[in-house]
Amino acid sequence: MIKNQHIPIMANEILSFIDGKKKLSILDCTFGGGGHSKKFLESGHFVTAIDQDDTSLTIAKELKKNYSNIIFYKSNFKNIDLLELNIKKFDLILLDLGYSSNQLEDSNIGLSFKIDSYLNMNYLGGDLNAFRIINYYNKKELQRIFNVYGEISQADKLANYIVKQRSLKKITTNFEFVEVLRNSGVNFRSKKIHFATQAFQALRIESNGELENLTIFLKKVHDFLGINAYLAIISFHSLEDRLVKNYFRDNKIKKNKDFQNYKNWGYEILTKKPLTATKFELLKNNRARSAKLRVGRFIN
Ligand SMILES: C[S@@+](CC[C@H](N)C(=O)[O-])C[C@H]1O[C@@H](n2cnc3c(N)ncnc32)[C@H](O)[C@@H]1O
Repeated sequence: MIKNQHIPIMANEILSFIDGKKKLSILDCTFGGGGHSKKFLESGHFVTAIDQDDTSLTIAKELKKNYSNIIFYKSNFKNIDLLELNIKKFDLILLDLGYSSNQLEDSNIGLSFKIDSYLNMNYLGGDLNAFRIINYYNKKELQRIFNVYGEISQADKLANYIVKQRSLKKITTNFEFVEVLRNSGVNFRSKKIHFATQAFQALRIESNGELENLTIFLKKVHDFLGINAYLAIISFHSLEDRLVKNYFRDNKIKKNKDFQNYKNWGYEILTKKPLTATKFELLKNNRARSAKLRVGRFIN
């Protein structure tokens, strides 16, 4: 039984870019609970959807009963070039990064520090998980991920403490790890968020290769965009948003083309600053609070 259909974030903002256009081919690379895809289908567009998640596959099958114009591929979006998609060039490609509400509540995945579960955190079905990272990464590697992915300033202190604790007993569950964090003596950044947030974020990013997936995808995506197509990306943490921002900046179409570095495509950046959810949306969906939407128009 699928409990949650995902509430699509900034759906109106995304639709506003294609307002009035009919029967577009849209590639939703993070189908999740199908929230965005359903909006596109309701507006009469054709949807090609990708997600690595089995529940997404089930939701897509359900959606297909009411809308014939959807085709689903179960895959990691970083492998977009290996998929032999039904359409070669799209009018809009969407990435709504991270995990779905279903995945957050799934105790087999264990993304939440509020649900006691085995230390997994891999929501993409890969081999790496938080248990392996916490119990087998060396001190330097632990320090790196907590520093870079968790932005924890006392990452060295935390890494030292974890190494000491795991030598006494393996750290196996989310709640055990929360206790390790609590007793580590590390000063976590903010009083506004739960003290485990940053460390859990770091483990999740590492377990799923989130930044690597996005980096690989961004190297390939231009091959799938038609003339004047839109690339819309919603990110949820600053590391992801920086990758997206730099990607658009580095590939911004130049008015006076620099012929030395000339390539025959680029983006018109349509969101000088990233769009964020309105107060009204935040009232309905708290998860939208950290979302940032950047959109570019593909020119070639
Ligand atoms: C925030 S949810 C998307 C929600 C969706 N837009 C909706 O409205 O229902 C993110 C989804 O992206 C998927 N995802 C994240 N990274 C992925 C990757 N590298 N390859 C394939 N799917 C990925 C997750 O499995 C999750 O279902």
